[in-house]
Amino acid sequence: MANQDMANHDGVELSFDEFDEQVNPPTSEPEFNEIAARLVSRRRFLGTSVAFGAAAFVTSAGLTAPGRAQAAAAPSRVSQGWLPFEPLAAGGSDTIRVPKGFSWHTVVSWGDPLWSKGVPFDHASRGTGASQELAFGDNNDGMSLFTKDGRSILAVNNEYVNRSIIYGNRESKLPENADDVRKGKAGHGVSVMEIENDGGTWKVIKDSPFNRRITADTPMAISGPAAGHELLKTAADATGTRSLGTWNNCGNGRTPWGTYLACEENFNGYFSSSDPGYTPSAELKRYGVSNKDWGYGWGAVDERFDISKHPNEPNRAGYIVEINPLDAQSTPKKRTALGRFKHENAEAVVAANARVVVYLGDDERGEFLYRFVSKDKYRELGDNSELLAQGTLSVAKFHDDGRGEWLELSPQTTGMKSQAEICIHTRQAASAVGATTMDRPEWVAAHPAQAQVYCALTNNKNRGKKPNKGGDATPVGGPNPRAGNQYGQIVRWLPDHGDHTAAGFKWDLYVMAGNPTVHSDDRAGSMNVNEDNMFNSPDGLAFDSKGGLWIQTDGKYSNKDDFAGQGNNQMLLGNTQTGEISRFLVGPKECEVTGITWSADKKTMFIGIQHPGERGRSHFPGGGDSVPRSSIVAITRDDGGVMG
Ligand code: FEO
Ligand code: CA
Ligand code: CA
Repeated sequence: MANQDMANHDGVELSFDEFDEQVNPPTSEPEFNEIAARLVSRRRFLGTSVAFGAAAFVTSAGLTAPGRAQAAAAPSRVSQGWLPFEPLAAGGSDTIRVPKGFSWHTVVSWGDPLWSKGVPFDHASRGTGASQELAFGDNNDGMSLFTKDGRSILAVNNEYVNRSIIYGNRESKLPENADDVRKGKAGHGVSVMEIENDGGTWKVIKDSPFNRRITADTPMAISGPAAGHELLKTAADATGTRSLGTWNNCGNGRTPWGTYLACEENFNGYFSSSDPGYTPSAELKRYGVSNKDWGYGWGAVDERFDISKHPNEPNRAGYIVEINPLDAQSTPKKRTALGRFKHENAEAVVAANARVVVYLGDDERGEFLYRFVSKDKYRELGDNSELLAQGTLSVAKFHDDGRGEWLELSPQTTGMKSQAEICIHTRQAASAVGATTMDRPEWVAAHPAQAQVYCALTNNKNRGKKPNKGGDATPVGGPNPRAGNQYGQIVRWLPDHGDHTAAGFKWDLYVMAGNPTVHSDDRAGSMNVNEDNMFNSPDGLAFDSKGGLWIQTDGKYSNKDDFAGQGNNQMLLGNTQTGEISRFLVGPKECEVTGITWSADKKTMFIGIQHPGERGRSHFPGGGDSVPRSSIVAITRDDGGVMG
């Protein structure tokens, strides 16, 4: 953990920050031109290793970089990461493709029953409220596999429901009655299920005592500084300590003590007002809560989603929810100490000083990147169950000289009245301290053996053009170097002294996505992007146990104009030492690839295919004229080797 040395054992490779020091010596007065020059240098560095591999990097040191054409014509197309494979071409077919020597199969799809009293998915009705409550939810996203006594328990977020698909049997393609809304609410939340490898095929074990559906109606406890605050009190809960349900759970996290973290992202889209003249508060507007929902219709059936009647209800969503996946009776806890915003994932690590650090992104244009440090220490054999109840919440400030710092959010630094208020109005707190507005922070991933951390900044068409919802400017520069950024990038940072709790860090960009076949300016991307591996909108991000960085995309799949040649959304494997990135998987039409975890023996990788056919052009996974269904897919090596 404390080892931030990136050199290999013969000592010839430099760490990326050492390399950066050589190529880009720090200056006292960085200007935008210098930042641009640094990015160009980085493009050379990464491009060299892409073309010739790490060995050539030692001698050329990136100073005699080949042109882009040479990089694209590099003879070897075999991945140079830890896992050898022949990288895939982009494509637009309505299936999953993986490299030669690998196989995939579907484990579970939206609507599959988790109990034998459930019914098989009905393609005509697309299910009912009752059937959905007993079945795997829609739009699977982040997930983690846990093991107990040799049994495999998979916890999966079901982020949202595709209205046009789950209500595809309705003329309006929207909920038309109370049972439709019941189905929609039950399609959200978290699915926990035991799975087993049955002769090479992973299957759900129906009726396992571990199986559980957590939905928009499941009782939750509210923990941490905001618990009991006036802003959390409602007609149904005068204590401000209990709420119902979780929804729009996007990326996820897992703690070192074996709990699952479901992260509430676009919680705002479910609230509406029965009074069209109602004016939501400025605080609610900062979070995008308005009089109109996004077509879910919950407010019409369940009054707590009507903000004109229950204006505090949205304050009870937007948190990290901690769930014990091994106890189907346990009460999930909303961890307010980790802040309230549109949470993407929650990457937890144990720092060298035993404090638990959780990195958190707020996925909206111009919002922020956060860090939580627990007050108490992790104890290997102790009770760690309340470590996320109290700690220090900070937000990232990136400086143009390659340095960064974590700014603590406290009443003193923000001018806000209490820590409780900071944990409820976290965006406002971060604005108050002048944090760096980011290009939509999606997943954060920490290296398993070295203190280095990566965050996918998926895209931001407003960069350099419009402020964020709080009015904070979004200047071009730092880790957000492109105006109107439509391709995205991955920023990485090294905590000072290899200490995840340190106040400072060094940063650079691991990759800028782009399209070098269409553009020759900075929209071509960094030099580790070429016509063979290009992609847009990195989103899911996770390290395997060998230090391979898996990158999943949720981008434009038009395959034309600015996105020509990029095909469907995909998953790539990145080598963080050489910069090389290789395409490993291409998803079906109109999906995003999101969510990743491994079996206990690491011989199976599980990934998620979300919203195939969201615009009506997929029949994944059933084919024919079946209804497209979000699914979890198992990937294995034909030689039986490990996948991560
Ligand atoms: Fe649900 Fe930020 O993706
Ligand atoms: Ca995402
Ligand atoms: Ca996304």
